[in-house]
Amino acid sequence: MDKFFIIGSKSLNGNVSISGSKNAALPILFMSILTEEKIKIRNIPNLTDVNIALELLEYLGAKIKHQKILYIDPSSINNFSPPYDLIKKIRASIWILAPLLTRFGKAKIFFPGGCQIGKRPIDLHIKGLIKLGATINLEKNCINASIKGRFQGKYILMKKNSVGATITIMSAAALAQGITVIDNAAQEPEIIDIANFLNTLGANIIGAGSNKIFITGVLKLKGGTHQIIPDRIETGTFLVAAAVSQGKIICHNTEPKHLKSVLVKLTEAGANINIGKNWIKLDMRGKRPKSLNIHTAPYPGFPTDMQSQFALLNTISKGVGNITETIFENRFNYVSELINMGAKIKIKKNTIVCYGIPILSSANVFCTDLRASATLVLAGCISKGVTIVNKTQHLIRGYELFHKKLNKLGADITMI
Ligand code: EPZ
Repeated sequence: MDKFFIIGSKSLNGNVSISGSKNAALPILFMSILTEEKIKIRNIPNLTDVNIALELLEYLGAKIKHQKILYIDPSSINNFSPPYDLIKKIRASIWILAPLLTRFGKAKIFFPGGCQIGKRPIDLHIKGLIKLGATINLEKNCINASIKGRFQGKYILMKKNSVGATITIMSAAALAQGITVIDNAAQEPEIIDIANFLNTLGANIIGAGSNKIFITGVLKLKGGTHQIIPDRIETGTFLVAAAVSQGKIICHNTEPKHLKSVLVKLTEAGANINIGKNWIKLDMRGKRPKSLNIHTAPYPGFPTDMQSQFALLNTISKGVGNITETIFENRFNYVSELINMGAKIKIKKNTIVCYGIPILSSANVFCTDLRASATLVLAGCISKGVTIVNKTQHLIRGYELFHKKLNKLGADITMI
């Protein structure tokens, strides 16, 4: 059951409800290790990556109750060395390290996994924790870390913009002694959500969402309730689904202000966009999109997680569009699959040049990573004939009920 059988030439129209953000939910789950009091989290998306994170928390000893609302009781956490087979499955497991060090003064975790879109180093995480006072030995495939007493607040200038390392350092600084400043911090909305969650528990973090975050360490965190922000990349993916199929869509339960750079590009492509407090409407009015030139960049720039979806838009647009990937060094694996479907794309170092054609042809294609998987499914929905998308296990890591939501919009996708 890891293939999709997709009948193409569909126009996607209607309403879709956006789920909670995967990239906010994952770190927030691991931040629960920082407290011994009960936590309630709303709008947690039902994803395999989230389920792996919950398995990891349970392995460490936390009590979990996951109905519509997620209840975590972290008081019974008593383990600081999670198993290789779980850690290896997700990139997010790196965010266990700092909370375990804060709680136990030691931690042993294997190097994290994640999408094969680049080397995915963790040097900025490690350097940040050492600066705050941790002792870290990198062994063959695991990290052996310890700290005497509390982390010590410091000024940290990030040599590179990193979402993950900003989160790691913020979580270590929350209970450190003294003040930590993260300069050249990542500014993604997920970082704001994590800071809001930690502040709900009693942390003292200001400036999240800007490039300078100030964290005044506190002695202890309490429990609390939090609602995860909507997933901006799921939202962008559904907006592109309507744009490439010349349809009309309304995305509900989302946050338009998190997608400014994406909405600017969709408008440039010829889409008619309307937004409300928590919804975005896109209407292509039956037109083929215009080609776009895009450079991915750290937030608030154009998100790398939307790169492959916009490459699909360019392949069926009028004109020639260039997309340059500046964040990850290996995020064009889907290009060969789109070329199998008739796309005219040339790769020149970290830029792809897309020569727009009116329609793609169906093919037997293979997923390589999360966002590329969504792109290939959308390509199958709009191409002539029947497309088989293989290795869809990548997809369910990051999109809740993706093919069911697409079928409600007029797609014809069967899991086989
Ligand atoms: C997070 O990955 C997201 N993943 C990614 O989403 C997202 O694409 C990325 O941020 C950038 O926005 C999660 O939140 C689980 P980075 P992360 O640290 O933290 C380099 C998706 O599809 N770097 O901002 O791994 C790194 O190699 C995923 O949902 C170092 O050099 O990204 C990259 O070139 C894909 N050393 C750049 O920085 C480090 O220690 C940005 O990486 C860490 C990162």
